[in-house]
Amino acid sequence: MEVLNLGMVGGGTVGSGVFHALQQNGALLAARIGIRIHVRKVAVKSVEEPRPYPIPRRFLTTNWREVVEDPQVQLVTELVGGTTVAREVVETALRLGKPVITANKALLSAHGPALFAEAERHGTNLYFEASVCGGIPILKALREGFVGNRVTALYGIVNGTCNYILTRMTQERADFQTVLREAQQEGYAETPPDLDIDGHDAQHKTGILASLAHGHWIPADYIAVEGIRAITPLDLQFAAQLGYTIKLLGIVKQLKERARHQGEVPLQVSVYPALVPSDHVLARVQGVYNAVFVRGDVVGDTLFYGRGAGKDATASAVLSDLADAALDVRLGTRRRRPAFVKGPDAVRVVPLDDVVSRSFVRLSVIDQPGVLARIAAVFGRARIGIASVIQPEGHTGEVVPLILMLHEAPDGAVRKALDRIARLPVVKAPPVRFRVESLT
Ligand code: HSE
Repeated sequence: MEVLNLGMVGGGTVGSGVFHALQQNGALLAARIGIRIHVRKVAVKSVEEPRPYPIPRRFLTTNWREVVEDPQVQLVTELVGGTTVAREVVETALRLGKPVITANKALLSAHGPALFAEAERHGTNLYFEASVCGGIPILKALREGFVGNRVTALYGIVNGTCNYILTRMTQERADFQTVLREAQQEGYAETPPDLDIDGHDAQHKTGILASLAHGHWIPADYIAVEGIRAITPLDLQFAAQLGYTIKLLGIVKQLKERARHQGEVPLQVSVYPALVPSDHVLARVQGVYNAVFVRGDVVGDTLFYGRGAGKDATASAVLSDLADAALDVRLGTRRRRPAFVKGPDAVRVVPLDDVVSRSFVRLSVIDQPGVLARIAAVFGRARIGIASVIQPEGHTGEVVPLILMLHEAPDGAVRKALDRIARLPVVKAPPVRFRVESLT
């Protein structure tokens, strides 16, 4: 049987997971694809560092060039993360004409087009199934499974850390800081946690999903992002009372047909915590699990669910890319799976200010006559309708929460109205606002 030599850069959580998965299922993979993948070397930061699965010392080196530049190495995995060394590793391998398999969404988000161009220049491919939602084969689904569909909407719970924190806050009525601290102690959240909880990890993944779904590279700075820091148990509680659950969503949505002009598809691409109906399947995705809901114009609604991170789930995606890469090498396919085939329609990412949605607003106001009227007047002048109001009974003169559900309105108009409301003397804390996604 044909053998291809694999050079691995990165032997930590994901890298050792891939090493282990190849020991476990290498023969199965070989039987299925007719090629045996042989690990030749693994470059690691430190030989002694603890890793979830052991890698025998004879495979290890701390010099990644020894792996990538080894003439016997025919395939390379980049599983180190970050955008500095990882970029050098990927570029060096591609320049040598070696296919690279990466799980690095931050690298793709920052340098995707340049790296794909480099792969093309050198007649090879860059594979990245593991970069989005770990074990869920969502990139393959978008690229191959839905090749005959226009993706009209995609909603993703793509960050396990945020979903874990929000699930626990909802179940335990605990505040964000407490749950975050515990999640860090239990190893469910990174330290520092910013990349996850401020939404940037989800932004990188949503950018990749949007680009694959629409055949145009969508840079990260076109993707509006808000994280989960502002969410309080009170918000989760009132949302539940209104029939909603709060989830951090990556959203890629084709806006209404009437907004099409000059052959462009107007797209919303954003990441923010949103209220989703509690009886929707996405609301039931709990803990560290990820899910991606995809609506195609032919297929209708579909849902992909699974572990979005972790050594084994991510290794599963790397194995799938290794199989593709090995087949491409054997068949001499330079561009069997071009990264981003330009779609037939041009795409225009609509600024978030122009996107129309319903809103949930929580204000902290003094309970006194005329307060509601003053707030309603600001929304009224901005032509924003109020759909419902909840104010738990308090004592006159006390600060109380005031919850408003707003009818559909452009995002910018809601933002400006809330800026004005924040300046009213009776409003005692910055307004909190989350958008409502009905997912219909
Ligand atoms: N930190 C990510 C998450 C996993 O919490 O989902 C890696 O992308």
